[in-house]
Amino acid sequence: MSMSLRVVVPPHPLIAHWLTLLRDQDTPSPLFATAMAELGRWLTYEAVRDWLPQRSLQVQTPLAVTDGMVVDPSVPVLAVPVLRAGLGLWSGAQAVLPSARVAHMGLVRDERTGEASCYLDALPQRIGERVGVMVFDPMLATGGSLIQVLERLEARGVSGQRLRVITALAASPGLATLGKRFPDLSVYTACIDPELDEAFRIVPGLGDAGDRLNGSQSPAFPAEAQA
Ligand code: PRP
Repeated sequence: MSMSLRVVVPPHPLIAHWLTLLRDQDTPSPLFATAMAELGRWLTYEAVRDWLPQRSLQVQTPLAVTDGMVVDPSVPVLAVPVLRAGLGLWSGAQAVLPSARVAHMGLVRDERTGEASCYLDALPQRIGERVGVMVFDPMLATGGSLIQVLERLEARGVSGQRLRVITALAASPGLATLGKRFPDLSVYTACIDPELDEAFRIVPGLGDAGDRLNGSQSPAFPAEAQA
């Protein structure tokens, strides 16, 4: 049976609202961080709808015994925020997955070639076969960064339905590349943008999420002073 990448764009007014604030070039860093966290929260809420294991139990109310459902605590979740900007998404998602173990990955793209390189792999050496893994990276442009993260997870035995990706914005060419390499993956995003420019940036996009979250382009810290 052939599979194809599953990309979910939840039609929700809050998701559209926070994405629009992310896109606006006049949104200041603190509000940009709030918008990113809110998208992390709502996209994760949608992504766990059919994914988080539950178990049934009986509960005693003040008046009677009734049937209930709880999230199964015996099935662990691993959250993988991709530095730097994935921290912004995860800060909102943490409210939805408060018991998740967190393991960071650090990747940075070469601005000239668009190639990503990995500077931190803090994934556990062993990931139990029941563990569900959720990856947080706010932008999927060429797909190169995410593919490196997923390959490292695959090497530890994690793939397919155990895995979900949360991204604020995805570019169509990056999704096509990702789908060829990981056809059975599920991606939750606020929007799919049509193209990349010659510098591998998403258009219309939202700019550089990491820089905007961290105030890296503030005029108070001119580039020559950072060298
Ligand atoms: C951005 C973004 C993704 C990556 C997407 O990170 O946060 O991780 O680029 O691009 P790709 O799909 O073409 O690989 P960046 O390298 O700018 O690092 P940062 O998060 O530290 O700013």
